[in-house]
Amino acid sequence: MSTGRGWSYAVMALGLGIMGVGWLLQPRSSTDEAESPAVVAAPEPAEPIAPPPDGEALYAANCASCHMADGGGVPNFQPGILDGPIVAAGVERVAEVIRAGSAVLRDRDNPMGWEMPPFGFFTDAEVQALATYVHEAFGPKAEE
Ligand code: HEC
Repeated sequence: MSTGRGWSYAVMALGLGIMGVGWLLQPRSSTDEAESPAVVAAPEPAEPIAPPPDGEALYAANCASCHMADGGGVPNFQPGILDGPIVAAGVERVAEVIRAGSAVLRDRDNPMGWEMPPFGFFTDAEVQALATYVHEAFGPKAEE
């Protein structure tokens, strides 16, 4: 009897031992995951904020070849725009001339006979930056 009971204790102890080892060896990740905060999806990268177009740089790249950096034009070849009637008329009128070129200059004298090409490929922001630069750099305000 006593030996039988002894065996059963031994079997129980062995069983508990195996359970204990099993408990020690069980992977913890499942419980860890349950306790860790929910994984937050990375936010979508924000649209990069485009810097405003640089009117002076646009002028240098697209207009100075004919009107020169100082707006003085090329005597007897390309008209100057410095202190001209269009730059004096304001940003809106300059923007119109940039977009359409000579098409919106027909109502006046064009002694040199050259046409100004339309710059339809500029974005509105680029036209605005260019026209503002041209008006401020070459218009009457430049004299003040
Ligand atoms: C290929 C040469 C050429 C380029 C490039 C050019 N222009 Fe002109 N521009 C002209 C000519 C030629 C005229 C006169 C056209 C006419 O009277 O029909 C003119 C006229 C003008 C006028 C009116 C001038 C006035 O009489 O008061 C303005 C303002 C002007 N251009 C601005 C610009 C700007 C800004 C750019 C750049 C986006 C530019 N132009 C690029 C040739 C050019």
